[in-house]
Amino acid sequence: MSALPSVSSLAGPELVDFRRRLEARLEQAVSFADGSSGRRGRETLQAGGKRLRPLLVYLSSPLAGRGAPDLERGAAAVELVHMASLVHDDVLDRAALRRGLPTVWATHGDAVATATGDYLFARAFAVLAETGNAPASALLADCALALSRGEALQKLQARRPETTPAEYLARCTLKTGALFATACVLGARLGGASDPGTVAALHDYGRSLGLAFQVADDVLDCDGTPEATGKALGTDLIDGTPTLPLLLAARDDRVVAAALRHGVRPADVLGVLHRVGATGALEAARAEAYRHVRAAEAALERLGDDFDLPALGAVAHGVVNRDS
Ligand code: IPE
Ligand code: IPE
Ligand code: MG
Ligand code: MG
Repeated sequence: MSALPSVSSLAGPELVDFRRRLEARLEQAVSFADGSSGRRGRETLQAGGKRLRPLLVYLSSPLAGRGAPDLERGAAAVELVHMASLVHDDVLDRAALRRGLPTVWATHGDAVATATGDYLFARAFAVLAETGNAPASALLADCALALSRGEALQKLQARRPETTPAEYLARCTLKTGALFATACVLGARLGGASDPGTVAALHDYGRSLGLAFQVADDVLDCDGTPEATGKALGTDLIDGTPTLPLLLAARDDRVVAAALRHGVRPADVLGVLHRVGATGALEAARAEAYRHVRAAEAALERLGDDFDLPALGAVAHGVVNRDS
């Protein structure tokens, strides 16, 4: 899996270098302990991923600040928080497959997956602490709290097809928007930007991008191909998670509403997903994702030309035009 190739070519060979140094830092960070959590953490890293959040850290730096070692530390810390949240998320979602491989939860159970996620969170903060930048650490700590609040809110909304789009977006802002926004703010600050208007614009860009990304992910859970996504199809439906496509479809189709509320037999999952598609909910959700892409683009208009605006714009479109 590789992230947004059009962006790589836009951003030039320095990005290739940055990614190489990032992988080395991540490898070093997860290799800290050699017990069970260390081994599982390493496996989680080796399974890959798009490395989208580190890309945002990099692209949110002013052009002049991209060589700063602290930018790499920020990018590694953000990716480690992401990895930690995925390992924990797979416990909560009872998800068997991630990045094309069995999840830590599926292979080793709740306790090991919880400990592995904790280990990765701890390593994230250790890497960021190397910058000596206390506000950066405080920002990432707030973000980790938002993430866990979003995941908790998701559990409260589970099996409630009457969840509104606004309630759904509030949860996505916490569980996904916060980390995207934090990636951008850390990139701006660690790359040397100090103007509050600039930092706020990148924060808003990241938050909108995160919402677009999550809505697109929730559509892929209904119509993606597991070979491309590396995840099982219909995980949200099976789990009763009212994502935007599912809650919109449930308004029009009582079978979808009942499946969300009461559960669905494995043999019926594809049939219910077909019904979701037939309501037009996937197109409506994609349209919502594009609204957030446009909001992200509008935020970019508040930035000066000391940023790589074409690459940031390409990412905004890339987060919805994807199959993985
Ligand atoms: C998955 O994120 C979690 C969501 C916010 C939907 P990614 O799709 O970025 O996961 P990887 O890192 O590429 O596996
Ligand atoms: C995003 O939600 C997970 C986090 C923000 C931790 P999902 O549950 O939709 O993510 P996937 O589909 O498992 O990657
Ligand atoms: Mg999940
Ligand atoms: Mg998902």
